[in-house]
Amino acid sequence: MAAYDLAIRNGTVATASDVFKADIGIRDGKIAAIADVISDAAEEIDATGLLVLPGGIDSHVHIAQKQGEGIVMADDFASATASAAAGGNTMVMPFALQERGTSLRACVEEYRKLAEGNCVIDTAFHLIISDPTPEVLGQELPALLKDGYTSFKVFMTYDDLVLNDRQLLDVFDVARREGALVMVHAEGYDAIRYMTEKLERAGDTAPYYHAASRPELVEREAAHRAISHAELVDVPLMIVHVSGREAMEQIRWAQQRGLKVYGETCPQYISLTAEDLQAAQGGDAMSGAKYVCSPPPRDHESWDAIWEGIRTGVFQTFSSDHCPFRYDSTEGKLNPKGRTSFRWVPNGIPGVETRLPILFSEGVSKGRISLQRFVELSATNHARIYGLYPGKGAIAVGFDADIALWDPVRKETIRQEILHHGADYTPWEGFEVTGWPVMTIARGDVVARDGTVTGQPGRGQILERGLSEFARP
Ligand code: URP
Ligand code: ZN
Ligand code: ZN
Ligand code: ZN
Repeated sequence: MAAYDLAIRNGTVATASDVFKADIGIRDGKIAAIADVISDAAEEIDATGLLVLPGGIDSHVHIAQKQGEGIVMADDFASATASAAAGGNTMVMPFALQERGTSLRACVEEYRKLAEGNCVIDTAFHLIISDPTPEVLGQELPALLKDGYTSFKVFMTYDDLVLNDRQLLDVFDVARREGALVMVHAEGYDAIRYMTEKLERAGDTAPYYHAASRPELVEREAAHRAISHAELVDVPLMIVHVSGREAMEQIRWAQQRGLKVYGETCPQYISLTAEDLQAAQGGDAMSGAKYVCSPPPRDHESWDAIWEGIRTGVFQTFSSDHCPFRYDSTEGKLNPKGRTSFRWVPNGIPGVETRLPILFSEGVSKGRISLQRFVELSATNHARIYGLYPGKGAIAVGFDADIALWDPVRKETIRQEILHHGADYTPWEGFEVTGWPVMTIARGDVVARDGTVTGQPGRGQILERGLSEFARP
């Protein structure tokens, strides 16, 4: 019998700290050896000329999440995880959303049922808390934390999700007591409402005005408020999907004060702008709806600010915020109310498959970040921050054999027709990248290869997580 089930040979391995030539031996879905030469394997993959990286972990995706009346997300767990696998990922972290007036536990069970038997790659849920009742704060949350749901997201905007300051403080307090990590969507509700009503009164209702309704200072104000509340309670905080300089500087300020405040950013904030929300001259007046997400993409100066934040360590994670809706659908971007005002265009864009090629190309290929930093931003930090480390997020003996093989010089043009998500468009149509994931291996199984998803739905496990390393005292 061979010593290993699979060997990945002759590749260049990268971790968050090192880049080196080595073979990798995989046994029972785990990395069993890393050595100069591994020859005793039942199967071999020749990785000559390729990079051997930890499979991506996308710690911010929305899958099959319940929407308002008549709106449906474009991905189920099978399609989202297939799309993720094709994009070099071996794990995703979606959200189980509590609807107001319902039990958090019951909602978690609903999402689990949707996921079970359908995931191509491993999956673990965060919680979204929209109704922090005494029951939720006192009983449900602590119990769910013990069951491995160790992070939750709270919103400072959206009619059906927004928490007021007192509710934020109460949730933060539970997180502090239990050692959970809170993710915050930092945009100020009242300021957005004020702007939205003003724009609508002036007849400015096209998708473009979504960006105008939530300028950067709205994000800065909310980030500052969340940071201040976190300092008061003494709890760590992850500010997600940061779009530009204003919020980035708030996080940096908090970090310089010694607070445990972390930051996440996304591809849209280094590659799209508010101008994308504008209809093309003479084109489809609603086409900007394809880019409606919150916070909105800003401008080129914001891209520079995000890179500054990435380079200087303000940001720990780079996630997709995959939140897919079909464009040409009455259940998606072009729902009947959405045509009357940007206010009703569902927020979110598809991006789980394109996250890593965009970061690799704009970051590594263009010389802005090292390969090690890419690994950290795409996998290792996600595992460490969300309680999956050790075990996931690195190429090391004893870790899950979650690996992506990358061709660092392959040029590709992102097009809808090569993607595997359930959306009917990509915001990055025509975007050119250098560097492409050519094979994804999850727990030792080849789940995607040369643009074809080979992993079966149901092979991915739903994982419980430990407490965050970043939330420890
Ligand atoms: O527009 C976005 N980002 N939609 C997804 C939900 C969220 O706020 O992350
Ligand atoms: Zn529910
Ligand atoms: Zn959000
Ligand atoms: Zn999101």
